[in-house]
Amino acid sequence: DKEGEKTLRSPICCIMGHVDTGKTKLLDCIRRTNVQEGEAGGITQQIGATYIPAENIRERTKELKADALLNVPGLLVIDTPGHESFKNLRSRGSGLCDIGILVVDIMHGLEPQTIESLNLLRMRNTEFIVALNKVDRLYGWKACRNAPIGKAMKQQSKGVKLEFDHRLTQIIAQFKEQGLNTELYSKNKERGETYSIVPTSAISGEGIPEMILLLVQWAQKTMIEKLTYSNEIQCTVLEVKVIEGLGATIDVVLVNGVLHEGDEIVVCGFQGPIHTTIRSLLTPHPMKELRVKGAYIHHKEIKAAQGIKITAQNLEHAVAGTALYVVGPGDDVKELKESVMDD
Ligand code: GTP
Ligand code: MG
Ligand code: NA
Repeated sequence: DKEGEKTLRSPICCIMGHVDTGKTKLLDCIRRTNVQEGEAGGITQQIGATYIPAENIRERTKELKADALLNVPGLLVIDTPGHESFKNLRSRGSGLCDIGILVVDIMHGLEPQTIESLNLLRMRNTEFIVALNKVDRLYGWKACRNAPIGKAMKQQSKGVKLEFDHRLTQIIAQFKEQGLNTELYSKNKERGETYSIVPTSAISGEGIPEMILLLVQWAQKTMIEKLTYSNEIQCTVLEVKVIEGLGATIDVVLVNGVLHEGDEIVVCGFQGPIHTTIRSLLTPHPMKELRVKGAYIHHKEIKAAQGIKITAQNLEHAVAGTALYVVGPGDDVKELKESVMDD
């Protein structure tokens, strides 16, 4: 119903998995951007955030004729690094999200950081789906650009289907060894008990429609409570960055509540609590990556869920991974300073 629609916030989805399984490339495919090719060594070294508005979700899933099922304002996707040295960033990303995408390279199966990511998601009881990526690398794959995977599979030769089935069976067995039941999404009748696998290609786009739809449907079906918008500020610092012309800035994920220009905030700092005033609230354009420098939109106020760049004085010693508090009327700054340092 229309009333209910207004009170839902966008689900936050974290994309995780072993290095080079195609996490950033999958987001590039959704955004129609080229972030991955701009990364040093093709390796993600920071957490990213991208807002995907509902209209883009509708456009990308329209072939699946599931339009009526969409009643969230959008989806906030958090990109994480897969390289083994960034476990803290994976942990930070997975700690923020409502739902996850665990990416597995179909040619490699489960790898060490696949299992690590899986355990991070399970530790927090986070629902997730598995993207079985790089299906275009199956020998003889016939590309069907951006098509639903159901449709693309029908176009494939017997040989491709056999190789696919063989690899899928192996990967389901590998998950089973980790104590996890998984099944191809189209055969999965026990969602919740059994995790869905969606075959994808980040290069030719097959399976992207199902991947997006499953995520949004699952979030709407199982976490309405959690996604009900609340005014209570819940905000985490993702990264601290010096930006030419802006000085020290913080990239934050606003999970709930509203931030305003001029809000007094308290964040954890390496040299003690930082008490400052929001000078500007910036976001990239929808479908653009927060961690990539580009044109920013200035906001007087902004509502959750969003990835936001905040400029303010004294942010250079802010500690990434900690909470941001807004000083409300009647709040005791001293108390907020103490709680922010306890994080
Ligand atoms: P990290 O963030 O560094 O962990 O890597 P990632 O998981 O984000 O993978 P990334 O997007 O950097 O992709 C790694 C490599 O795999 C790049 O060379 C991509 O072009 C390639 N790649 C990603 N997805 C696909 C796919 O679906 N098919 C094929 N053929 N190549 C892919
Ligand atoms: Mg990446
Ligand atoms: Na990479």
